[in-house]
Amino acid sequence: MKMLVPLNRLRRRHNISSYLLTISFITFATLLYFEFEDFTCLLRRPLTAARLHLNNNEKEKEKGKVDYDNQMDLPFTIQKTNSSSSSSCDIFAGRWVYDEMARPFYAEQDCPYIQPQLTCQAHGRPDTGYQHWTWQPHACSLPSFNATLMWEMLRGKRMMYVGDSLNRGQFVSMVCLLHRVLPDNAKSWETFNGDSLTVFTAKEYNASIEFYWAPFLVESNSDNAVIHRITDRIVRAGSINKHAKHWKGVDILVFNTYLWWMTGQKMKILRGSFESEMRDITEMETEDAYRLALGRLVRWLEKNVDPDRTRVFFATMSPSHGRSEDWGGEAGGNCYNQTGPIEDASYWGPSTSKSMMRVLKEVFSASKTVPITVLNITQLSEYRKDAHTQIYKKQWNPLTPEQLANPRSYADCVHWCLPGLQDTWNQVLYAKLFFP
Ligand SMILES: *[C@@H]1O[C@H](CO)[C@@H](O)[C@H](O)[C@H]1NC(C)=O
Ligand SMILES: *[C@@H]1O[C@H](CO)[C@@H](O)[C@H](O)[C@H]1NC(C)=O
Ligand SMILES: *[C@@H]1O[C@H](CO)[C@@H](O)[C@H](O)[C@H]1NC(C)=O
Ligand SMILES: *[C@@H]1O[C@H](CO)[C@@H](O)[C@H](O)[C@H]1NC(C)=O
Ligand SMILES: *[C@@H]1O[C@H](CO)[C@@H](O)[C@H](O)[C@H]1NC(C)=O
Repeated sequence: MKMLVPLNRLRRRHNISSYLLTISFITFATLLYFEFEDFTCLLRRPLTAARLHLNNNEKEKEKGKVDYDNQMDLPFTIQKTNSSSSSSCDIFAGRWVYDEMARPFYAEQDCPYIQPQLTCQAHGRPDTGYQHWTWQPHACSLPSFNATLMWEMLRGKRMMYVGDSLNRGQFVSMVCLLHRVLPDNAKSWETFNGDSLTVFTAKEYNASIEFYWAPFLVESNSDNAVIHRITDRIVRAGSINKHAKHWKGVDILVFNTYLWWMTGQKMKILRGSFESEMRDITEMETEDAYRLALGRLVRWLEKNVDPDRTRVFFATMSPSHGRSEDWGGEAGGNCYNQTGPIEDASYWGPSTSKSMMRVLKEVFSASKTVPITVLNITQLSEYRKDAHTQIYKKQWNPLTPEQLANPRSYADCVHWCLPGLQDTWNQVLYAKLFFP
């Protein structure tokens, strides 16, 4: 059994400055293209952010207005309650219930941090039903999300999401869930390190929620947050420090990595460095390469993370809904025009590989010293064919007459509208954080 220790015992650290079974290759290329779009928009932010950030911290220290050290830290774990005795309840097994009043937690227009790739209403989505579904585990209820309590828990701490654009969506969802309780002048949003790192800071709480771009977690030739390869992906499956040095000292880590591995081809593994002239590249089955990379992550965690002061989460694969025949829909369709969840409780689409899931389970259960909490969001998301951004997102390139005539052809059935499904991912994260 893992023991969680109240965080007031924890040392503090101040180091922000050092910072598919394949659907088809076409879907994959499209996904990567979306990633690129996301970052072209981030690029327009001022590049002097890092400097500003440091100055602010210095100023705060000087003024000494807030005595953080006298504030009591809330422990990660608070008393178990009836509402979520997770030991007896699998919160990932349940069903979706439509609740017009209880959801969404926030309005799309009230969260300025959502990238235009995920603001579906602003881009003309005609229905809003996808915002109103709430996840009901079979054996218990999820604890209600209390943003103030979450900030109290995060006081003096850093929380970081590390992974691909799906994890970035979850990061933005968390910021949307939490920013509303902060006054306007007490929060900031900045990017660093060639846009690899996005940091949302809550000044009064001296706390940050961050996103770090590393789509394979290990080093790869897709690591540039702005320009990354769509084809010819190569990973250095044993090499993680280049990224991991930016995660050191973080108090809550939330990882994901999956879609980028699913190319339908073997993975190219580089031994040696990307800089060397002679490249020693071997090919490997996707599962084996995934095992290697996740194993590397676990070894890094065991060496660099103190389980008494750090919580580690891993979000499982996010499903895609690119073929309506998979759920018994009409031929030739996809997520476009879908307005409600799949009702078949056993539904599991072909975009989510059971063998990759097995690898994940094996690798993480072998981790003895650092408990990794798996956020098993796959099954609950499988049902949500209605929750994708579809065609209701910023299009960076003009659409062709052929595309316009057939909206399905350019529907995004990978990413998710906000508010929406990913708020539930954070709700289960919240549940696991307070009631592990
Ligand atoms: C703010 O939090 C960091 C850890 O993220 C800590 O090192 C630093 O001392 C804190 N600053 C203050 C003023 O408490
Ligand atoms: C739930 O809490 C109530 C008191 O708040 C208690 O009487 C009851 O026994 C609890 N039920 C379970 C299953 O723990
Ligand atoms: C949320 O948490 C704060 C801080 O612990 C507490 O004061 C407040 O009553 C909570 N709100 C609700 C609705 O439970
Ligand atoms: C989408 O739904 C609308 C209204 O229900 C219908 O008119 C249209 O034909 C549908 N389009 C596709 C591609 O299914
Ligand atoms: C996640 O849940 C699915 C069933 O919904 C299960 O088959 C799978 O093994 C779980 N994965 C992990 C890593 O626990």
